[in-house]
Amino acid sequence: MTRDGIRLHQASDFAGMHKAGNLAARILDEIAEHVYPGQTTEEIDRIITDKVAAAGAQSATIGYRGYQHASCISVNHVVCHGIPGPKTLKPGDILNIDVTVIVDGWFGDTSRMYVAGVMPRRAERLIQVTHDALMLGIEAVRPGNTFGDIGHAIQSYVESQRMSVVRDFCGHGLGRVFHAPPNVLHYGRPGQGPRLEEGMFFTIEPMVNLGRPETKVLADDWTAVTRDKSLSAQFEHSIGVTASGVDIFTLSPAGVFHPMW
Ligand code: MF3
Ligand code: CO
Ligand code: CO
Repeated sequence: MTRDGIRLHQASDFAGMHKAGNLAARILDEIAEHVYPGQTTEEIDRIITDKVAAAGAQSATIGYRGYQHASCISVNHVVCHGIPGPKTLKPGDILNIDVTVIVDGWFGDTSRMYVAGVMPRRAERLIQVTHDALMLGIEAVRPGNTFGDIGHAIQSYVESQRMSVVRDFCGHGLGRVFHAPPNVLHYGRPGQGPRLEEGMFFTIEPMVNLGRPETKVLADDWTAVTRDKSLSAQFEHSIGVTASGVDIFTLSPAGVFHPMW
């Protein structure tokens, strides 16, 4: 069954999403020790590829629209879809690592922020605000609220902190597919957009910039960067709407989704 073109999943489908989400989150837990100055993002991606295979799962991103890696790794002013490569991380670089796995046909999609070495002060504030914005968006998830309520919760908080919300990329429905309706905007007005109903599965994945919200995609056709070269951060959870609120599929098994620096 669908509502407004959005699939309404069965109670039994939540278990499949938990399995997929848990694996993606566990890989993000385990990758933290591999992030340090001098490390390359392609080596981080290779370790992620191995972990997906070791779990008997599949990467959702390898082969997706020609993408060839098990993760997106977005460093500093890269907003999203950074391609792993041979460049080494420098002390104080911040990076988002985004992993999507397929387990028994279900998709688990999650991302977090990491730092190479010691966290710079202004990056720490950006990352804290971005994480808080995601969690405020998730707190707005319950049957009867709308997608606009989620976007408004995120946008109003981020802008109150004098930072900006990226408009050019959004969250998405998922389940047995990677990207499904609706587009989950990280900005909006209360009461706008489709109404949330039990059984909807989607991601919330706000990208927040220290400067202006505009982005551009580089010549590789993937890497999105801030136009003004300001720092950008992102966190992503995959979630399901329950009768009483929300079920987060990608919670950190180790409890370190937002590590303390
Ligand atoms: N995981 C990303 C998301 O949050 C999508 C990455 S698609 C890729 O939707 F091809 F760039 F990997
Ligand atoms: Co996503
Ligand atoms: Co993702």
